[in-house]
Amino acid sequence: MCGIVGYVGEKNATPVLINALKKLEYRGYDSAGIAVLGDEDIIVKKAKGAIKYLVEKITGEIVKDSKNLSKEETEKAEAEYAAQIERTENFVKGNIGIGHTRWATHGEPSDLNAHPHTNVSGTIAVVHNGIIENYAKIKSWLQSQGVVFRSQTDTEVVAHLINYYYEQKKDIFFAVQQALKKLEGSYALGVLCRDFPDRIVAARKDCPLIVGVGKGENFIASDVPAILEYTREVHYLEQKEIAVLYADHVDLYNDEGERIIREPSHVDWDLSAAKKDGYAHFMLKEIHEQPKALTDTLRPRLVFEENRPSDIRFEEFDFDESWKNAGRIVITACGTASYAGMVARYAFEKFARIPVVVDAASEFRYRNPILKQDDIFIVISQSGETADTLEALRIAKRCGAKVIAITNTVGSSVSREADKVIYTWAGPEIAVASTKAYTTQLMCLYLLAIKMGEVRGTIEKQEYLTLLQQLEEIPQKAEKIIQELPVVQKFASEQFNKEKIFYIGRLFDSASSMECALKLKEVSYMHSEAFSAGELKHGPIALVDKNTLVVALATEPALYEKIASNILEVKARGASTMVITQDGKGAFKNCADTIIQIPECGGDLESIVSVIPAQLFAYYCAVQKGLNPDMPRNLAKSVTVE
Ligand code: AGP
Ligand code: GLU
Repeated sequence: MCGIVGYVGEKNATPVLINALKKLEYRGYDSAGIAVLGDEDIIVKKAKGAIKYLVEKITGEIVKDSKNLSKEETEKAEAEYAAQIERTENFVKGNIGIGHTRWATHGEPSDLNAHPHTNVSGTIAVVHNGIIENYAKIKSWLQSQGVVFRSQTDTEVVAHLINYYYEQKKDIFFAVQQALKKLEGSYALGVLCRDFPDRIVAARKDCPLIVGVGKGENFIASDVPAILEYTREVHYLEQKEIAVLYADHVDLYNDEGERIIREPSHVDWDLSAAKKDGYAHFMLKEIHEQPKALTDTLRPRLVFEENRPSDIRFEEFDFDESWKNAGRIVITACGTASYAGMVARYAFEKFARIPVVVDAASEFRYRNPILKQDDIFIVISQSGETADTLEALRIAKRCGAKVIAITNTVGSSVSREADKVIYTWAGPEIAVASTKAYTTQLMCLYLLAIKMGEVRGTIEKQEYLTLLQQLEEIPQKAEKIIQELPVVQKFASEQFNKEKIFYIGRLFDSASSMECALKLKEVSYMHSEAFSAGELKHGPIALVDKNTLVVALATEPALYEKIASNILEVKARGASTMVITQDGKGAFKNCADTIIQIPECGGDLESIVSVIPAQLFAYYCAVQKGLNPDMPRNLAKSVTVE
């Protein structure tokens, strides 16, 4: 978690750093800060809270709150904010600097604990993403050398340790290199030194860091969207690599200090990917982007004959004998990605008739897992940087498993370390709450399950072709569901004060319910839970009263009646009810207060898109409550620490 940035070039560094930080705010937003090298000294500014408070502190102007404004007013407020950011150039006339948006791990969010941290004399400044696990030991040693600490963070030791080695040779590269040898844990670092005013030193281990290569200017950032406005040429730093950035070139080194020659990669994402494009929030924009994201993820994997899909092919690998003879599928991931795995369990079982184990990566890594030679191991991660998922991947590899990764992030640690990678082509997902990444993960998983069924002979040829045709229609079905937005918005305006929200369903729907409930918790802070509908009467129904909303997912026609009885049971106890279903024949007419009709997709493919009304419901409940759904409290988009 947290975002770090750095700039060296001709421009005034402050607005560049702040604009880049804004693009990374989804990674952490409990405090922010920058350090810019002026004519003589490093000037540091930090503020608790979101980046706008840093802008306020620098400019002395209040940033207008854009909550509950009309679209026009929001655009105006954003333009004013952009102008304010430009005015931060008056802060210090410097062309080199580093910045940070924090998600605290050590020490409360405060001005003091915000990064950058400096050595005692303020001549070396450091921004850090990650955790220095042995910081306490280093800290007491440095204290014994007379160093006085100012913050409670683990990061501050890095600044003092670099200073310690700097004093030996007055060489910042040497100092960083030596300091890194002493650090245990994870880090992405940006280091600025007053005595080397032409360069930034950067390094990473177990946390992401990219170097953006511009013309006469270079950048560091935790993620691509931060620098898209300036360049599309990037180096994805490998584990333990060190980069030294000057305005006109970048030098890369391995941890032994040997030079590495590597061409930067080109990033295709278009610039609008990192902008709200007139939507009030990224979350709403990303919900709307799902039809395109699903098309982009699906299309390259479909083979066409006479304009009809005839096969599934992954460029990335062949469905060799290992798929035919596999004994189990083992899926590991965290949060939303793990819920995609839960839904996929039903898909693999249905289409490929293969047993599936789904495990939270945070559990898997401590479980001394039992993996077999004929297991297919799949990790799922939007960011590709989730610490627990990465560790699970590494354990699986150590056990000899071949790992397939489904990720949205080219160049991420997961993509580099897995044996095979399947990308979800969803484009950058900025809102903390995952939406388009989830549905595209499901698309990839369904493609795998269906193709595996064909390879194993558990799906007849004709059924296979029908499924491909139905898959092809999924993006337009998603589009149709999004058109239900006004109904969901109205329902949210009536229900956002409910105390308890339960999502229920059976089979695929019980798995989908988990993601629906998570979305609501994350952005609206409403207490929501998911239950298998059949389990309700074994306990949870005791919670149901008139302050409860029960949302049933009902995409299994054979089980409509069962779900209808569940709804009647909760209704009799005072609950409000909503049903998300493709049924058009009135199966829920007499029990549901509101019905969100989704189109029929066939073949249990509804579960790829049945979450969309729940995403919209979560979004509108948050907005009704005056919350910012893009930045829920206590959360960070990418959890790169344990
Ligand atoms: C999604 O809404 C959540 N913010 C979170 O559960 C997320 O899915 C989880 O942290 C996993 O992230 P990843 O996909 O980047 O690995
Ligand atoms: N561990 C550091 C801190 O708490 C960095 C956290 C982060 O990655 O934001 O300040």
